[in-house]
Amino acid sequence: MAKIKKIAVLTSGGDSPGMNAAIRAVVRKGLHENLKVMGVLRGYEGLINNDFIPMSSKSVGNIIQRGGTILKTARSERFLTPEGRSIAYENLLKNKCDALVVIGGDGTFKGARIFSEEHNLPIVGIPGTIDNDLYGTDMTIGFDTALNTVIQAVDKIRDTAASHERIFFVEVMGRDAGFIALRSGIACGAEAVLVPEVQTDLKELHNHLTNCMSKKKTSSIILVAEGDDAGGAFSIKSEMEKFGGEFDMKVTVLGHIQRGGSPTAYDRYIATKLGVAAVESLLDDQRSIMVGMLHRTVVNVPFNQTIKHHKNIDQELLNMVDILNT
Ligand code: F6P
Repeated sequence: MAKIKKIAVLTSGGDSPGMNAAIRAVVRKGLHENLKVMGVLRGYEGLINNDFIPMSSKSVGNIIQRGGTILKTARSERFLTPEGRSIAYENLLKNKCDALVVIGGDGTFKGARIFSEEHNLPIVGIPGTIDNDLYGTDMTIGFDTALNTVIQAVDKIRDTAASHERIFFVEVMGRDAGFIALRSGIACGAEAVLVPEVQTDLKELHNHLTNCMSKKKTSSIILVAEGDDAGGAFSIKSEMEKFGGEFDMKVTVLGHIQRGGSPTAYDRYIATKLGVAAVESLLDDQRSIMVGMLHRTVVNVPFNQTIKHHKNIDQELLNMVDILNT
């Protein structure tokens, strides 16, 4: 296999806190290995538009603590087409890049897999998404920061919920996965957590809330994953109202606040470990893999596996929420 001399790095899909730390690690490890490194702006769109910029050690200075991504990001429709991907490949050749590092989530890796199948290009992925929904890694970069953002918000909501003796439905992100809702629900002592992976029984929820409020509690927090089958927090609240009762109910949708902010120490740490590992894997002739962290160890997971398999929600954690609220 020809020796890799120049690599490109991009971020794609929804940004997540810690992506900058990953870019920094890829660039500096690459330079340390005497590689040239190019940054690609706006993910796969930048590959198609030939938006390449040379990266130096200095260009990634003072970014480890910054949220977002200095390379910008996008969800590229054109990269979904073979024509778009051919242009992207030609631009990589024009820029003399022999390998690519992509930082993103499920959609990013699906794109990377097909791209590497169509064109002979080594690609390594780094899991960057707040959703934590990627098979083959315990944590994705950005998940921990998002959880901390959620619990800080919920702690504040609790103050007013307790003062007014209200029930709050707090909607969090996660697309079709409930990892953010479940983990943050545990961490902020939520009275219930609703996730897409488990069918929501609204009548049962109403009974549970009635129980909670009639016993010891005067306020409750319900964490609702945005992809829950019963709908978003607003529709769940209106369904609850139909069952009657004297509850004073409110909704807070946390939204994109969950995607921003300075990454936690943990996110900076895994971003750095995985950024370095991504370059090592390329130099080790690996291709079409994601570098992930399982049981605190860096692992290489083929794109095929991480795309095909579904990461399951931890049923024990869900049970724990119930146990702690009986
Ligand atoms: O994948 C990250 C994520 O924040 C999801 O949790 C959410 O459903 C989605 O992206 C929102 O995407 P956008 O910012 O493009 O609306």
